[in-house]
Amino acid sequence: MKRSLPQDDAPFAFAPEQQREVETIVARYPEGKQQSAIMPLLWLAQEHNGGHLSRAAICHVADLLGMPAMRAMEVASFYSMFQFAPVGRHFVQVCGTTPCWLRGSDGLKEVCARAIGAPNAPSADGMFSWTEVECLGACANAPMVQINEEFYEDLTPQRLEEILQDLARRDGRARSPAGAARPRAAAQDQRASAAQNVSGSTKKSEPPHVEGTGTDFHQFAW
Ligand code: FES
Repeated sequence: MKRSLPQDDAPFAFAPEQQREVETIVARYPEGKQQSAIMPLLWLAQEHNGGHLSRAAICHVADLLGMPAMRAMEVASFYSMFQFAPVGRHFVQVCGTTPCWLRGSDGLKEVCARAIGAPNAPSADGMFSWTEVECLGACANAPMVQINEEFYEDLTPQRLEEILQDLARRDGRARSPAGAARPRAAAQDQRASAAQNVSGSTKKSEPPHVEGTGTDFHQFAW
């Protein structure tokens, strides 16, 4: 997928309390392998930069790790989890790769276009944005979307529409009962979530821990 480099040049630096988190992340890696912290630090920068990475944020992370800015840019541009332009509060990533396409991802994209608008631009109220991405690893439960950190699998256009409406109600775009619950993530037809196979959670923000293997992916250095 072709991705434009970030145009946003707003200054960026981690706040003091975030700096402590940076030190904790970097300390997970063996001596001499600190640059392996590039992924979690870019993720942290994105979280604290309103959901996308500016050029300054990428350069700041590169400086912290003592690596050329271009190498950090290469990593950030390779993974669709890193955004280079503002996204909505609910960022919908629709998988359009073959298994999801065969199972109806075109219908999911139509729902997003109708409910949110054009891809890759936040809705007028900033609540939603959507984009198409390559395989997110939940092909067994295709078609699926990721909304922020949650997977929603085995979707139909109707079910996705309901989920978007539920999120809008919950955030006050439409009238809703007080304390309306967040729509249920994972497989929508009660099957086991494809994402649960690895982490026991549908959240993608934390490196996975594979049950029973003792494998902590935080320890991997590359
Ligand atoms: S093809 Fe859609 S999750 Fe793999």
